[in-house]
Order: sequence, then structure tokens, then C-alpha cells
Amino acid sequence: MEKFDLIATAAFGLEGVVARELEWLGAEGITTENGRVRFKGDFYTVARANLWLRTADRVLILLAEGKAATFEELFQLTLAVPFEELMGQDACFPVTGKSVKSTLFSVPDCQAIVKKAAVERMKKHYGLEWFPETGARYKLEVSILNDIASITLDTSGAGLHKRGYRAVTGKAPIKETLAAGMILVSRWKKDRALIDPFCGTGTIPIEAAMIARNIAPGLRRQFDFEKWKCFDGNIILRARNEAEAAVDRDVKLKIYGSDIDYFAIRQAMDNAVKAGVGDDIAFQKLDFRAVSSSYKYGFMITNPPYGERLMEDREVRELYAAMGAHFKNFPTWSFYVITSHDGFEKDLGRRADKKRKLYNGMLKCDLYQFYGPRPPRPAETAENSEKSEKR
Ligand SMILES: C[S@@+](CC[C@H](N)C(=O)[O-])C[C@H]1O[C@@H](n2cnc3c(N)ncnc32)[C@H](O)[C@@H]1O
Repeated sequence: MEKFDLIATAAFGLEGVVARELEWLGAEGITTENGRVRFKGDFYTVARANLWLRTADRVLILLAEGKAATFEELFQLTLAVPFEELMGQDACFPVTGKSVKSTLFSVPDCQAIVKKAAVERMKKHYGLEWFPETGARYKLEVSILNDIASITLDTSGAGLHKRGYRAVTGKAPIKETLAAGMILVSRWKKDRALIDPFCGTGTIPIEAAMIARNIAPGLRRQFDFEKWKCFDGNIILRARNEAEAAVDRDVKLKIYGSDIDYFAIRQAMDNAVKAGVGDDIAFQKLDFRAVSSSYKYGFMITNPPYGERLMEDREVRELYAAMGAHFKNFPTWSFYVITSHDGFEKDLGRRADKKRKLYNGMLKCDLYQFYGPRPPRPAETAENSEKSEKR
């Protein structure tokens, strides 16, 4: 099967996590850049990457890459792409674009040139003067950086954060890809307790349960490449069947979500059912100050309100101070909190062990990480209890 140069795009800060996910998928030639991870593979790789990547935005095929300081260079670069091997004569191929630090700075002109060259190539092959564009969608993008243009084809269609479980959005839902990233960055394992005390529509607990059950995030949605003429439908069928078989139906989870907003909790419950993890998460309407747990060790992974979106600055600062006070009731737990509020550590009254810059959409945030002690290993526990029995 033909090998492609592929690109998984990602929010700034998540590239390393995407690269780890690709390694786990067995992809080859993985290299990380700002906002994207390159790798190589065939259509089976494309199918698996779309089905399984939890933290990437899209999977693109790199069709051409080269110097384009003039429109003629951009035209020739595009004309050399064998579009006819990928697209049928009814293909719909919109072109988007971006240009950074380049001679060709007019994005609409660059888009028009790429479209013209693609049409020219298709005309020659199909012997047509006009294309109806009523068929499958092939989203092309021209992106130019320092006079080097890349022409890419989007295999995903809708962004990969659209898992298909979130029908209506809540007040300020975190992007699914970012929620999954927070969990993958954390040291949480599926046998440990996890609480999101500001769970809103449930994104963090749902993503955690999907990770724990090994549910491929794309299992309940479709991708643009599935409708392409060049794509053998048996490939996605095989990848989907494998993903179905990989679901861990036996694992018992300790995942909890609570929020002060009753309607958000109702939404979270509906979303969890749609995501196939309805029985895995206990949701409750609760002020975070009332959150408790019978587990000595566990993880709070959460996205509390931030000033920009939901509350006045003063209210947010008071809320963070109250969080700091309440966290003291969980001295052996770990905390992972994402917020765009600059004085978070000061207001919380505690320094993070580690900070990581991440983006929630366009909003620059930090993921504050506070590590709790590791729980004793089961063997140690048995040994300890033996010792204490002898005592
Ligand atoms: C940024 S949103 C969380 C969004 C969530 N991650 C999602 O994906 O939908 C913050 C949430 O904190 C909740 N909240 C505000 N004050 C609270 C309190 N005192 N106790 C519990 N939840 C609270 C809001 O209702 C809101 O749903």
C-alpha cells in the first residue's frame, strides 16, 4: 500500500503527547514541530491515527512541500501533485490557507493559485472544463512559512475533538483533546481514584473513562477519507473492528465528577452515556467545598472557572483560595488544575511542582501539577499488615 508523509496537528503544548500516542500506535518517522507532528504511513495508519489519537486536532496528508516565493513556484509545486489518483471528477476540494513570514503574504491569492493548479491537473486527466464539486470532500490547505509552502489534504474532516458524544455545549467546556492531554500528562492510572470537582459537562471524567476502557475516541464518528475514491473501505472496517475488540469491558473504575450546576451535571450524564461510559462515572451536583472521598490516594484533574469566561476576577480569586483550603483535606492526593489565571498559585496558597503551558482553543493556560505521594505497593501493604499483625 502507498506510503504517505503525514502530519498530526495539535494545540501548542500537546505535540509531545501526540508523538507519544503515535509511538504507541506504531507509526514510523515521528518528528515533532511547533503545532504538528510528522510521521509516515499508509491508509491503514491514516485510519488508525484518526480513530485513536486523543490529543491531535487533525490528520493531514502532506501532498507537496517546497520553495514558493512566487505565484509561479506555488502553481508548479501544486500542479505536480497527482490529484487525479486521490480525487474523483465529482470531488469537492475547497482550499484554505495561511502565510507566515513569507513573500507570498496574500492568503486569498495563494488559495486561488492552489485551486487553479489543482483544477488544471484534474482537467488534463478527466478531460473536463468544469467540475461540479458535488461529491466527497477533500479539504486542501496551503500553508507558507519562511517561503516554504506545504500543500496538505485533511483526512479527518471535522476536528478530532468531535468525538460524537457532546450534543450541546455547556458554559465553557474544555476541548476534548485538551482534557485527554491533561489526563495523559498526569500520572493517573485506571486503578486509581479520579475526581473532577468542577466537571461541567463531564469532559475530563469522560475522557479518563474512555482512556481507562481503551475506547478509541473516533469509534463513534466518521472521517472525510472514508468517502474518498482512492480509499479501500475494508481498511477502516478492519481498524474499527480491531478498536471494538480492544475495548476493556471488565475494568472497574473510580471516576467521579461534580459541579454546582444541576443542568451541567444532567448534560454530563447524557454525554457519558453517549460516549459508552455511562456506568463508569458517578456524577453529582455538589459545591466543590463538599467534595470528599473514602480513598486515601487519588487524583483531582480539573478545569475550574477562569475570569475571562465565567466569573469576576475577585470571585475567581476567592474561589481559588477556597480550593487551596479544601485541597488540604486531601494531603495524599495529586492535583492537576488548568487555568488561564496568572496569580493562580498565589491565590491557591501553594506552589505547583510543575507547570506546563497549554492552549484551550485560543486561550493560553497553564496546567499546574501538584504531586501527592505514591501509594504503597500492594506487596508492601501486605508486608506491613503482616508486621502489624505480629506486633
Ligand atoms: C470551566 S467550567 C468546567 C467545564 C468542564 N471542564 C466541561 O468540559 O464542561 C467550570 C465549572 O465550574 C462550575 N462551578 C463554579 N463554581 C463552583 C462551585 N463552587 N462548586 C462546584 N462547581 C462550580 C461551573 O458550574 C462550571 O461548570
